[in-house]
Amino acid sequence: MCGIVGYIGHREAYPIILKGLKRLEYRGYDSAGIALYDGENIKLSKTKGKVDDLEKRINSEISTVGTLGIGHTRWATHGVPNDINSHPHYSNSGDLVIIHNGIIENYGTLKKELINRGYSFTSETDTEVLINLIEDIKKSENIKLGQAVQIALTQVVGAYAIAVFDKNKPNEIVVARLGSPLAIGIGDDEFFIASDASPFIEYTNNAIYLEDEEMAIVRRGKEIKVRKIKDDSLVNPYVQKLQLNLEQIEKGGYEHFMLKEIYEQPNAIKDTYRGRLLTDKAIIKMSGVEDNMKKFLNANRIIVVACGTSWHAGLVSEYIFENLARIPVEVEYASEFRYRNPVINENDIVIAISQSGETADTLAAIKLAKSKGAFVFGVCNVVGSSIARETHAGAYTHAGPEIGVASTKAFTTQITVLSLIALRLARAKGTISSSDFRHHLIELEMIPDKVEKALKSDDYVKSIAEIYKGTKNFLYLGRGYNFPVALEGALKLKEISYIHAEGYPAAEMKHGPIALIDENMPIVVIATKNGQYDKVVSNIQEIKSRKGKIIGIVTKGDQIVKELADHVIEVPETLESLSPLLTTIPLQLLSYHIAVMLDRNVDQPRNLAKSVTVE
Ligand code: G6P
Repeated sequence: MCGIVGYIGHREAYPIILKGLKRLEYRGYDSAGIALYDGENIKLSKTKGKVDDLEKRINSEISTVGTLGIGHTRWATHGVPNDINSHPHYSNSGDLVIIHNGIIENYGTLKKELINRGYSFTSETDTEVLINLIEDIKKSENIKLGQAVQIALTQVVGAYAIAVFDKNKPNEIVVARLGSPLAIGIGDDEFFIASDASPFIEYTNNAIYLEDEEMAIVRRGKEIKVRKIKDDSLVNPYVQKLQLNLEQIEKGGYEHFMLKEIYEQPNAIKDTYRGRLLTDKAIIKMSGVEDNMKKFLNANRIIVVACGTSWHAGLVSEYIFENLARIPVEVEYASEFRYRNPVINENDIVIAISQSGETADTLAAIKLAKSKGAFVFGVCNVVGSSIARETHAGAYTHAGPEIGVASTKAFTTQITVLSLIALRLARAKGTISSSDFRHHLIELEMIPDKVEKALKSDDYVKSIAEIYKGTKNFLYLGRGYNFPVALEGALKLKEISYIHAEGYPAAEMKHGPIALIDENMPIVVIATKNGQYDKVVSNIQEIKSRKGKIIGIVTKGDQIVKELADHVIEVPETLESLSPLLTTIPLQLLSYHIAVMLDRNVDQPRNLAKSVTVE
């Protein structure tokens, strides 16, 4: 978590850093700060709150002149969010300044040693310990900043992406990474540093992504030097051409990124299957799967590891893989899997799903699975992310940047990719007939248009949101493919409206949640025609007898649920295995509208962050 930005070059650093921080706020937003070198001194301003709060106060605190600077937006780990714990942090002499994304686990021991050596600390952060460790090494060994950073990092246990500069050497910034992402944008005689490429995309599309345990010294007007932290060997960095464009990371007229991303889903799904789904030839082409077909065909089982919404997409895939490709699937929270000493063997395939490709628990689960000999396949959205690089093979979702903290288009594109993989394997294994396969391809190709139609319910969903916005609890029910959608609907509502919501398999309702139902309880029930429709209708009857308020998500033209429910939201008909791609749309809209009506910060809900790079 946390976003870091830096600039060194010929332009004014402040506007670049400020704008960059705003773009990185999805990574954390409980405090923000900037340090600039004004030609003589370091000027630093930081505050609890958002980047907007920093912007409001910075001009009254410091001059914002300078062509070298670093900035930070924080998601607190060590130390509550307050002005003092905000980054950047000075070293004791005031000569060095640092921003840090990650956690220094052994900071307590290091801090004690530094206190014994006369250092004092104003904040509760691990980061202030790191900058003083660097200063101590630099002074005691009389070495350059880069060398001191390198030695300090060999003493550190934990994760970091850092940027440090020294006011006595104002022509360089030292950066390093282990476990937290760090991109360096390369312009003409200028460098940009950031947690992802969004802060510098309008200036350059050439970027280097540091690998774990690498550091770089970026010097004004000089070539960049990247080296391994441990053995000091020089690395020839790969300069990547970025595909990102500015419109993708702006709101484009929508009130919130979340709404924009909900509406982007028809195109995002198309982008996901473009070039892979060849309906006229009745084939699916996915190089990551093709190249490893033998492994997939020999797989005893698939273990899916993921967190949050990606875990829900994994649950949907359990139904898809088992049904179509007849491969047993287990879906695991990455955070549980990694600490459970799981039984994994060489014929297991681990599929790691992650929008950001940076989630610490998922990354650790991958490393564990690899160490036990499993083949690990990644399903990521962010190209070049840590998980994309750590996995043996993979398939990108191509959803484009997702900025709203509550995940929407990542979910539907993950399901799209997983459906493509399952269908491809089903074909290869012969567990699907050619006519059924073709039918699936045709239906999948029609999904973007059907999502478009599902989005037409927006105004109606808004009117339902108006009725239930004051409710304290919600229940979401679904069965089969739509049970994970119920979980996801409940998660969306919790995340952005702060209303308590639970997702449940509809039939399990009688084993507990039914006790909660009274005339004040809204229950969202997904009751599409091709699922276990009759069973769900019985569940709806049970709710009705207890006077619960029913919001049915039904297939267009449904009459039975319409008679029973208080409200029905229609989605177009499709194959049951693809129905999550449609039923999830009204649930996203419902949570969105309730959150807006409650005046919540939709794109940056409290306490959350988009990319959880701490465990
Ligand atoms: C955070 C985000 C969620 C996301 C989860 C997993 O909790 O707020 O939206 O689903 O992390 O993230 P990943 O990037 O691995 O999909």
